[in-house]
Amino acid sequence: SRKIIIDTDPGQDDAVAILLALASPELEVLGLSVVAGNVPLAHTERNARAICELAGRADLPVHAGCDAPLSRPLVTAEHVHGKTGLDGVTLPEPVMPLAPGHAVDFLIETLRREPAGTVTLVPIGPLTNIATAFQRAPDIVARVQDIVLMGGAYFEVGNITPAAEFNIYVDPEAARIVLASGAPMTMMPLDVTHKALTSRSWVEGMRAMGRIGQAVASWTDFFERYDREKYGSEGAPLHDPCTIAWLIEPGLFAGRHINVEIETKGEYTLGMTVADWWRVSGRPANTNFIRDIDAKGFFDLLTRRLGDL
Ligand code: BDR
Ligand code: CA
Repeated sequence: SRKIIIDTDPGQDDAVAILLALASPELEVLGLSVVAGNVPLAHTERNARAICELAGRADLPVHAGCDAPLSRPLVTAEHVHGKTGLDGVTLPEPVMPLAPGHAVDFLIETLRREPAGTVTLVPIGPLTNIATAFQRAPDIVARVQDIVLMGGAYFEVGNITPAAEFNIYVDPEAARIVLASGAPMTMMPLDVTHKALTSRSWVEGMRAMGRIGQAVASWTDFFERYDREKYGSEGAPLHDPCTIAWLIEPGLFAGRHINVEIETKGEYTLGMTVADWWRVSGRPANTNFIRDIDAKGFFDLLTRRLGDL
């Protein structure tokens, strides 16, 4: 099975991604590195522990990481995720402790300890922890097997500003460092995640599936309220689980290897992911930019796996 570290800012959709990973024998989750994003770090690290306990995995190392972007104040998204970041379900206060050591040290130490090319990073929040690790220990970049991240938008433009997607916008300098690192990378931008919309029948099917299914159904209901009001869309976009689904069943997705650059100075376009889909820039490809998903296959996979947890 493939070893992964999930770098996360839970987040209802982060929670579904973590549960999907823990339910999948193809993946061995080495630990969670937690970052500030959807809500401040005090909430995201607590949420990460609560999710592990919900999955019966209090043994999993959960490391708290950076509490603010590299060089900007933190922007949060309580308007989407609620005050706790996991509104919709009240999970018991977690009792498992944080693992000792900063998440950035955990990333560095794990990549140095495991054989080169055997650890995949799955960032589903702002890229602050990953960029800090790459800057502090450049030797680890060549040891990364793959990076599969949720972030960015191009044809589907932005969700936090007209031009930018949240994870990239919160820490554009970090995103630029990761994009420029040369590590193999697949990106799940809004272009694909806005095609991964929950349906009523899927949510009700989840709700009928016991404790974990009920939590997932209530989270997505909470999450959907925002999208319905904002975009008039039926269904909640399950952004972050796309990364995990790609690792399990890449055939569900289609994209192109292209060049993507991050705007860090634009007056109106800060955090924009400038995706050279038509390959007009001459700049070398640095990521596999995903645009399409077999949504039915994706939701069937979630149902099968989460039903087994
Ligand atoms: C991303 O931002 C957060 O709101 C979600 O958890 C996801 O990672 C979507 O733009
Ligand atoms: Ca997230």
